[in-house]
Amino acid sequence: MGKNNAEIFELGRQAAFEAGQILMENFGRISEVSKKEDGSLVTNVDVEAEERIVSLIRDRFPDHGILTEEREEVRGDSEYRWIIDPIDGTHNYIHSLDVFGISIGVACSDKPFLGIIYFPCSKKFYHCEKNKGAYVNGERIHVSNRGVKEAFLTHNSNFHIDGQEQMLEGFKRLVNLIFKVRMFGSCIVHFTHIADGRVDLAVEYGIKLWDLYAGALMVEEAGGKVTDFSGRPWHLSNGPYIASNGVFHDEIQKLLSDIK
Ligand code: IPD
Ligand code: CA
Repeated sequence: MGKNNAEIFELGRQAAFEAGQILMENFGRISEVSKKEDGSLVTNVDVEAEERIVSLIRDRFPDHGILTEEREEVRGDSEYRWIIDPIDGTHNYIHSLDVFGISIGVACSDKPFLGIIYFPCSKKFYHCEKNKGAYVNGERIHVSNRGVKEAFLTHNSNFHIDGQEQMLEGFKRLVNLIFKVRMFGSCIVHFTHIADGRVDLAVEYGIKLWDLYAGALMVEEAGGKVTDFSGRPWHLSNGPYIASNGVFHDEIQKLLSDIK
């Protein structure tokens, strides 16, 4: 890692740990929950953790761009852009389910460059850098090599969102093909489970850039594949995504390609 890149990584790590501390201090003790326009919920803790991450970045790298889930985008003059979700798995967090984490991605000249994901309950720290591999707590990780008949699928659980019919149709096709299904309510859990080989396929609908940026790069750097339903690279489009160990990705992509 070059000096600048190493500093960016160090700051990302510090931001993830500081946000993790805020999440743990407030776990089971949320003081405010409100509904967003899309019907999903946000808490005072999402906002506080996000403020901490953003202020660390702005202090150290005032010219970097910052896109986050809960506040307006900061446009920067630099080629670097941070893409942040302070809590992925907010609804789990609200229900005191310990399945949530912090997602921090960094793009350089609009290309995925760095991914950091931290799960404060299990203290699992994932990171990856483009063309340098993916790691959990410093150990290199790899996707599985299981085939479709043995595959564990993690699937988006937001069946109440727009496009319910498409989700149900896609789900029906998948369950007839794969072995087992799990739903964790946090797409960074899905992505990291693929990256470290515990799960083989994830299908997500309606996720935003901050949900997937760090996780999709993590899967790729662990040897897997992530595309939209048309087979295009994940960072170039919005909408549903397929992430997999790469073994049967094209088969799944063809199976779902007519679902918009
Ligand atoms: C959500 C989670 C969930 C996915 C949703 C996301 P949030 O993120 O990742 O698993 O299905 O589409 O919005 O709201 O907890 O940050
Ligand atoms: Ca979130």
